[in-house]
Amino acid sequence: MSKIVVTGATGELGQLVVKHLLKRVPTSQIAVSVRNLEKAAGLFGDQDIEVRYGDYDDPSSLEKSFVGASKLLLISTPQDDSIVRIRKHVDAIQAAKKAGVKHIIYTSFAAIDKGAFPPLGNVHLATEYTLRASGLSTTILRNAFYQEAFANESLQAYIDHGVIITSAGEGKLNTVERNDLAIATANVLAEEGHENKTYELASSETWNYDELANILSDVSGKTVSHQSFSDSNALEKLIESGVPEGIAQFQITLYNSIANGNEGNTSHDLEELIGRKPISIRESITHLFNRPI
Ligand SMILES: NC(=O)c1ccc[n+]([C@@H]2O[C@H](COP(=O)([O-])OP(=O)(O)OC[C@H]3O[C@@H](n4cnc5c(N)ncnc54)[C@H](OP(=O)(O)O)[C@@H]3O)[C@@H](O)[C@H]2O)c1
Repeated sequence: MSKIVVTGATGELGQLVVKHLLKRVPTSQIAVSVRNLEKAAGLFGDQDIEVRYGDYDDPSSLEKSFVGASKLLLISTPQDDSIVRIRKHVDAIQAAKKAGVKHIIYTSFAAIDKGAFPPLGNVHLATEYTLRASGLSTTILRNAFYQEAFANESLQAYIDHGVIITSAGEGKLNTVERNDLAIATANVLAEEGHENKTYELASSETWNYDELANILSDVSGKTVSHQSFSDSNALEKLIESGVPEGIAQFQITLYNSIANGNEGNTSHDLEELIGRKPISIRESITHLFNRPI
């Protein structure tokens, strides 16, 4: 029987994809390709989902785990080093080809053709071009930044200090919840007709740090303001406030990209695939702080 094989299934996004896919197709049609069989057994053992061993560091294991896949969801690797990540993706695509996979669905990054966040974008562009060169049917899911990376417990520090320090100015950012991405991905996996398409899985609305300050003021009842400085001054202030230097540098790179207008691209693809607007940053934060909107 042909299968939908899901890589990265033990990760945050992959688990949600499997959860939503189970609502659309019979369990017998799903297999997961994972490097940690024990973790997978804990997650999927009682659901009767076929678990296969596949490690991005061992292409032959990937090839075996992809056999019989009519559709393969290739969730991008979390490896930090860009060249290593690209190599792993290329190996996985080659393994899929050898295994006779018909159609690869790949989780890329939103608006990379418009200059969005090059430190991540270049890895995904390289993978997208490899997929094109492979000759296989592909669907590219260009995922926006995870909203959870911005709407999380760390916001409490902004509330406590009453200030958000960035160098992002009034620049806009597009974020969506993993769960909305997972619903769209499960729909693409379960349905026909998505071959050789690229979807921008981003919101049709963006936000900026002034708006984030307003949302935090609303949910906390305390005044939170946003102050934007030059990159070098913001870096200094972040490090002074205790942010580790490497993380502060990464934040400045992102703020710079936001300020330059590279992160504010919008799309209706996600809402068309899930049949509603994605959960907004205000909804995520309000839910997090458990207050009515
Ligand atoms: N759009 C965004 O804002 C954003 C942000 C962060 C990351 N991402 C990308 O989106 C991907 C999925 O996100 P996520 O939140 O689900 O990440 P995650 O929770 O870290 O999950 C990563 C998955 O990759 C698996 N993996 C790691 N190394 C592997 C290897 N050598 N062989 C096989 N599997 C391996 C992990 O397996 P284990 O469970 O065994 O560790 C896990 O299942 C990330 O990997 C990253 O490429 C996107």
